[in-house]
Amino acid sequence: MRMRKKKWAVPELMASPLYIKEPESFRGKWQQAFEKEQPLYVELGCGKGGYASQFALLHPDVNLLAVDISSNMLGVGRRKIDALFAENGRAPDNIRLTEYNIEHINDVIAPEDDVQRIFINFCNPWPKPRHYKKRLTHPRQLALYKTFLRPGCEVRFKTDDDQLFEHSREYFAENGFEILWETFDLANSGFEGNIKTEHEAMFEAEGIKIKMLIARWPGEKDGE
Ligand SMILES: C[S@@+](CC[C@H](N)C(=O)[O-])C[C@H]1O[C@@H](n2cnc3c(N)ncnc32)[C@H](O)[C@@H]1O
Repeated sequence: MRMRKKKWAVPELMASPLYIKEPESFRGKWQQAFEKEQPLYVELGCGKGGYASQFALLHPDVNLLAVDISSNMLGVGRRKIDALFAENGRAPDNIRLTEYNIEHINDVIAPEDDVQRIFINFCNPWPKPRHYKKRLTHPRQLALYKTFLRPGCEVRFKTDDDQLFEHSREYFAENGFEILWETFDLANSGFEGNIKTEHEAMFEAEGIKIKMLIARWPGEKDGE
């Protein structure tokens, strides 16, 4: 579903201290983009920022970098973050936004960044075999994440799409991740503290069950 362009989104984003204009320049030193040095988590394909804004508000002891390829989406997210933090009387000092194609994410995140968790929420399912490699959970992508994810840390993945979920379970397992937990029905799984994304709310309203897994990367960072 394509979002109608909001005229204000990109100009406001560009003027915001939350937005990182040149993410390559932070490669290997992402902590410098935040007020405090603390564990770095990354959300890949953050869309309109509903998840990132709520997660960062609830977890002031984590730095969250939210990445999307669409500056229009990020502009909407920027408003959401500022509004939510203002309502709660806090400065958004533990969240940053950047625009980047995640297919090349290792050009902006390095092993030294020591990412302690990755979130992938409702990425595009790319149902045709010739497009599988564009999936954010495809083995080609997992190989990139393994270069900067701290050993012992997790990727948390949610989707509405049955085929993408089935394939992703295999991608993770076959690429050295341990599946610590999974569900085919998140709402009835007993999982506590779920934060709903914009797409999640939409799919739930349509009666679609949400699938989720937590995959742990046990190994050394690849390339070390
Ligand atoms: C289906 S939306 C989900 C958005 C949000 N995570 C949610 O659950 O509501 C997928 C998002 O991923 C972004 N995206 C898709 N491919 C991407 C890529 N290669 N690099 C960065 N972002 C990408 C899109 O711009 C879009 O915002």
